[in-house]
Amino acid sequence: MDWGMQNRLSRLIQKDGKALFLPIDHGYFQGPTHCLEKPGETIKPIYQYADALMLTRGILRNCINPAVEKPYIMRVSGAVSVVGEDLANESLVTSIQEIIRLNASAVSMSVFVGSKYENKSLANLSKLVDQCETYGIPVMAVCAVGKELEKREARYLALAARIAAELGARVVKTYYCKEHFEKVVNGCPVPIVIAGGPRTETQREVFDFVYDGIQKGAIGVNLGRNIWQTEHPVASIRAIRAIIHEGYNPQEAEDLYNQVKAGKA
Ligand code: R5P
Repeated sequence: MDWGMQNRLSRLIQKDGKALFLPIDHGYFQGPTHCLEKPGETIKPIYQYADALMLTRGILRNCINPAVEKPYIMRVSGAVSVVGEDLANESLVTSIQEIIRLNASAVSMSVFVGSKYENKSLANLSKLVDQCETYGIPVMAVCAVGKELEKREARYLALAARIAAELGARVVKTYYCKEHFEKVVNGCPVPIVIAGGPRTETQREVFDFVYDGIQKGAIGVNLGRNIWQTEHPVASIRAIRAIIHEGYNPQEAEDLYNQVKAGKA
């Protein structure tokens, strides 16, 4: 692997081989998402606990101090909206010159395997990989399900993750599934990070699935709403970080969460 590619990946994936990415890119199709109306404010208390941010160039330029030390992953697919016809009909929305100009450590884009726009999104992924590999910039493929949340099961996720890796993604983001998640990881030759999805009823559910996902081979998370939409974002991200980087189990994570919440840690 070339030095530049390795250097960028090592800014994102830590020495222990694990990673906690904090996405705040939701506005690219949802508009001012709850708790993300002012992304710069949302991340102030929590970004120090993340290994990298994930966001669009618009939020980067307008809300993030260029002196920030955290690496970031730039979302470069979009041009759809939650009120539009089909979320899967994404295009590449950022040029390679802009990606380099804004010093992204990686880029990400969604692929919609099995959708009407499967070919378009997969061809876009290949195109992006070609452009980014030339400059040593890793591509993270986001295996998206749009509004079809029921697609979050092992067979589908394994298929989508593998195809994304075959087309050249250096990292794959996929959802977690309770049954046979190891099949998703084992069938994918590049590192996998887990998305959080819509907010869960309890914090413990998040600790449970992050822990199980890591046990089954995921290297970490790309998890947003179940951190910054919760009542205690700092407690939440610190507990998740402890699972990923310090080997906490869900009970230990919950104990830490409660201690941080109570101001005792
Ligand atoms: C989708 O809006 C984005 O790709 C998010 O980065 C991704 O879904 C992860 O965020 P969350 O944990 O909120 O699902």
